[in-house]
Amino acid sequence: MKNAECGLLFGFGGVSRTPRAPAGRVREGTAEMAKPPLSMKPTGWFQVAWSAEIGAGEVHRMKYFGREMVAWRAASGALTVMDAYCEHLGAHLGYGGHVEGDRIVCPFHGWEWNLEGRNVCIPYQDRPNRGRRIHTFPVVERNESVYIWHDVDGCDPYFDVPDVFASFCDGTSAEDYYPAYPQGTLYRERLELHPQYVLENGVDFAHFKFVHKTPFIPKFTRQEFEGPVSYVDFTIVFDAVDGMSADTMNSGVQAINGGLGVAVTKSWGMIDNRTISTITPVDEETSDVRFMVYIGRLPGNDTPQPPPKAQGFAQAVIDQFLADVHIWSHQRYSDPPALATDENAGFKALRAWAKQFYPDSREESTIP
Ligand code: FES
Ligand SMILES: [Fe+2]
Repeated sequence: MKNAECGLLFGFGGVSRTPRAPAGRVREGTAEMAKPPLSMKPTGWFQVAWSAEIGAGEVHRMKYFGREMVAWRAASGALTVMDAYCEHLGAHLGYGGHVEGDRIVCPFHGWEWNLEGRNVCIPYQDRPNRGRRIHTFPVVERNESVYIWHDVDGCDPYFDVPDVFASFCDGTSAEDYYPAYPQGTLYRERLELHPQYVLENGVDFAHFKFVHKTPFIPKFTRQEFEGPVSYVDFTIVFDAVDGMSADTMNSGVQAINGGLGVAVTKSWGMIDNRTISTITPVDEETSDVRFMVYIGRLPGNDTPQPPPKAQGFAQAVIDQFLADVHIWSHQRYSDPPALATDENAGFKALRAWAKQFYPDSREESTIP
């Protein structure tokens, strides 16, 4: 399989590289792994699961942003992500809690909590505790994924999760592609990396040649910002043909970053693929990484699952993403970085844009 369809996807994807230096941390000259100097509690949408992992009636444990959480799906299909601890006496609902209809029932004393986290039944009292509520997170299910909105102040979402199809406004939809989950996915837990590393990958034109083995350095044709969304387009090839030069590359990638946590890409001029890369902080040191690859349906093929050829393409794309992950998970944030002249503008603009997602100097969550 050619590389052609692969590497790009990440390319943009992400965030790559370096958060800034944390006060009080010695970086220079140490071999210490870096606790990212950037806040691990940024505002935005972050993937916490794939939809298929949480069936109706199931309770799913997770930890993100330093908080224990549960995701549970009501019999109706509605999904809630909430803090894990019962407001009564603090039992963890992920250990023995169960779903009945549209409620989650605590394993300790049987109190029942609804989709909004409100107490709706105390089984040994004639009325619920209407004043108590378990904190719930805004949730969106899109592109087979579960995203939550995180904001340390508990503010409501002010932008939308990018859609790997609709956000490119080209009339495509999921029907034009094979499903990505599970065969076109990658999941790596608790890696020492920050979402911004992946984001910076999108402007890091020089790494493609070294990490993704492209014959030419890609040409960036767009870097634009619209509030919380950033756009990066570039031309890239993975296999040069005779006579081709960096100025005549005939394929490329368009990338859209919705905040720091979610990046979607679309390819052109190569095997039709779309990707989603997401980075979700778990605690102060680590993040979970998820990656999805959608391969365009082969003409005349309407099988539910991708045929081997399409799966091979997806795997090639995943392998390229893994090459990035290998760098990111051992990287430490360089600030200020020693940039080449041509790198200055892109990195500078991206880092300035990323600042909007970090709580000023607040590290402690004020979510009740
Ligand atoms: S701790 Fe949950 S019902 Fe008592
Ligand atoms: Fe990359």
